[in-house]
Amino acid sequence: MWHYQETPGDNWDYTSTQSMILANVRIGGKQRKVLLHAPKNGFFFVIDRTNGKFISAKNFVEVNWATGYDKNGRPIEIASARDGTKPYDAIPGPFGAHNWHPMSFNPQTGFAYLPAQHVPINLMDDKDWKFDENAPGRPHSGLGWNLGKFANAEPPKSKPFGRLVAWDPVAQKEAWGVDYASPWNGGTLTTAGNLVFQGTADGRLLAYNAKTGEKLWETPTGTGVVAAPSTYMVDGKQYVSVAVGWGGVYGLAQRATERQGPGTVYTFAVGGTAKMPDFVQYRMDKLVQGVKYDPAKVQAGTMLYVSNCVFCHGVPGVDRGGNIPNLGYMDPAYIENLDKFVLKGPAMSRGMPDFTGKLSNDDIESIKAFIQGTADAIRPK
Ligand code: HEC
Repeated sequence: MWHYQETPGDNWDYTSTQSMILANVRIGGKQRKVLLHAPKNGFFFVIDRTNGKFISAKNFVEVNWATGYDKNGRPIEIASARDGTKPYDAIPGPFGAHNWHPMSFNPQTGFAYLPAQHVPINLMDDKDWKFDENAPGRPHSGLGWNLGKFANAEPPKSKPFGRLVAWDPVAQKEAWGVDYASPWNGGTLTTAGNLVFQGTADGRLLAYNAKTGEKLWETPTGTGVVAAPSTYMVDGKQYVSVAVGWGGVYGLAQRATERQGPGTVYTFAVGGTAKMPDFVQYRMDKLVQGVKYDPAKVQAGTMLYVSNCVFCHGVPGVDRGGNIPNLGYMDPAYIENLDKFVLKGPAMSRGMPDFTGKLSNDDIESIKAFIQGTADAIRPK
């Protein structure tokens, strides 16, 4: 049949696994059967689905790896993003300009609705990178995922945010948009009644006018939403249901609400009266205190933490924790007995890896020193 490659020689983790939409649109006076796609690389693609021919691509958020696509559908790359010898803010970074959260298309407005985002990460090539090598200091290398790049400690120049984008695929431009304080917002649903529904990372479900973007309704959901809502009719009454619950890779170490799980399905209808369930407050009492450690091990512990723990647990006491607790806010007993959690620990069934054979007891002592040392360093005096 056919194939089309959106990011040739991908060097940035710009996967193209985002949902595709088949639509019939009028382009240049002709009805075309197209495929609409908005992958992680930040460009919105319109492709002729009958033959795979590239029609157009345009960036739907700020990007700094390519200026656009030529008429053959090849990206016009920016050399500094490919070069990798100097640190630069990857925009989008590996979280993508749009990730798994589904987009929707409304044939009446002609717009696609997608949860876009801006999550820059400062990257640089790692010349000594080897696959699945546990190299202290290389982000996530202890777990086998690696881009062959360093994520530099230097924070990116711009802050992350999310944006609901209503995109006109024919004009290849934004029709309207709404900014959110946090990235990683839910997928979208659009209806024949001219509505767009979306849940957000900051714990709301909203309805917009699909044509204009005017906000028509919102309700708190207790915790973050990443799923897309769905709609259906039973006995002549229309319902909107959404699975509420925070998650996904961004949600491992980050969050935008004070409350978490349990994952819950909410159903709404005009005139509904049911009460919302109670959600659990995040555990964020105080910074860990009093764990004995050798200050000389903090440096080694920093490197080991970066390559084995930071991706899931975040920076102790600096990040606030997402679905996985931030180790800077643990009861000291957890950190004092860190070996019991890291080597075939009780949380393995909940997703905590086993570091047996990867981390020595001395390594674990160093990680303890980093966690307690960081908490002590940032504790308000
Ligand atoms: C792939 C993600 C991931 C990585 C990497 C990871 N952890 Fe975990 N960790 C988890 C999960 C999931 C839990 C269970 C959280 C829960 O109970 O809900 C957990 C639990 C823990 C706990 C017990 C906390 C509790 O509330 O049960 C400790 C301590 C811990 N991890 C330390 C570490 C250390 C130290 C490292 C690095 C050597 C590390 N983890 C790497 C995912 C991870």
